[in-house]
Amino acid sequence: MSDFEPRIIAFCCQYCAYSAADMAGSMRLQYPTNVEIVLMPCTGRFDMLYALKAFEGGADGVYVAGCLEGTCHFLEGNLRAKKRVNCLRDELKILGTEEDRIRMYNLSASQGPRFVEIAKEFTEVIRELGPSPFKKNLAA
Ligand code: FES
Repeated sequence: MSDFEPRIIAFCCQYCAYSAADMAGSMRLQYPTNVEIVLMPCTGRFDMLYALKAFEGGADGVYVAGCLEGTCHFLEGNLRAKKRVNCLRDELKILGTEEDRIRMYNLSASQGPRFVEIAKEFTEVIRELGPSPFKKNLAA
């Protein structure tokens, strides 16, 4: 793909992914500027509509980054988010687009380098997939 630069929205839990992003910054680690972070109190607050709105708003990919399983500060918020993400993946397939446009990741606040790795990995996945088909439909 030529000069396609994906737009990615990352819904990040304040206790883990967001803190890991902070740590990455402190460590002067760089992650792709394609990733726009949305701070969440817990991924349990993630609503499927947020992802649909992100796609509608021009995102090419969306990921949710929550605490490691078993360490959510609200007990099962990340497990609820995981179910919603899996449901959205199924919906994307039904809509005829790639399920990998949405993913769930889990990490801890101390994993700054892992945050960077995830941002790079997901950006590459979306770059390979190309622009979101929803963009075309919105432009029509
Ligand atoms: Fe981090 Fe729930 S507090 S996912």
